[in-house]
Amino acid sequence: MDKKELINSGKVKSVYTTSNDDEVIIEFRDDMTAGDGARKEVMDKKGSYNAIISAKIFKVLEENGIKTQFIDLLENNVMLAKKLDMIPIEVIVRNIATGSLVRNYPIEDGTKLNPPMVQMDLKDDDYHDPMLNDSLIQALGIATPEEVEFLTKAALEINDVLSKFLIDAGIILVDFKVEFGKDKDGNILLGDEISPDGCRLWDSETLDMLDKELFREGKDSEVMDAYIEVYNRIIPDDEKVI
Ligand code: C5P
Repeated sequence: MDKKELINSGKVKSVYTTSNDDEVIIEFRDDMTAGDGARKEVMDKKGSYNAIISAKIFKVLEENGIKTQFIDLLENNVMLAKKLDMIPIEVIVRNIATGSLVRNYPIEDGTKLNPPMVQMDLKDDDYHDPMLNDSLIQALGIATPEEVEFLTKAALEINDVLSKFLIDAGIILVDFKVEFGKDKDGNILLGDEISPDGCRLWDSETLDMLDKELFREGKDSEVMDAYIEVYNRIIPDDEKVI
């Protein structure tokens, strides 16, 4: 499958058209960014680790009835996917309070959130991804109330499946962000990626961080070891390619 035209170059991924109008090729680059892209470094093989981790997670979600844009992994860092018209909402699910939640609200770091919390932020770096509510989503014309309900339900299902899958690998899913889009028939599918870039993952024994938070905290030299640890734990030996 040949990459044709570059249609979107994001902070860490590039999206290309293919000979099939309904499909895209997503290249996971080795870039790592923080602070709405203000800080950027290149991490060796990070794109491959994230693409392989994402592909594995998308397959697990599909096996559990969640529809995703994933079709195939063409190369270690190149994914073939259904073309989606992305909905500019970052759907965040939190099982444990930390990060921006404890910075912005009076809740103690580490508080278990039961039921899990679903939050929707506008995907727009220029506005620093402000939090949305139902009225704002309607006013901005981003999604209908029915679509918001669908996104909420899908995000909670993803949380259930992924929390169970990861805990078997000794990883606590603290929180994560997902993005959705519409295919050519208007079906809403999970898109983008699910990787240590967009999740907080803690070792279930030591509570050590295994995700991009290390980079956000400036511990750049520890980041790839954490990503490789996640890869080693969730990819069975006979599926390992790096
Ligand atoms: O920073 P905050 O606590 O709001 O992040 C919640 C979760 O969403 C974290 O897992 C973080 O990695 C993810 N996130 C993301 N992209 C953003 C904002 C948050 O992947 N732009």
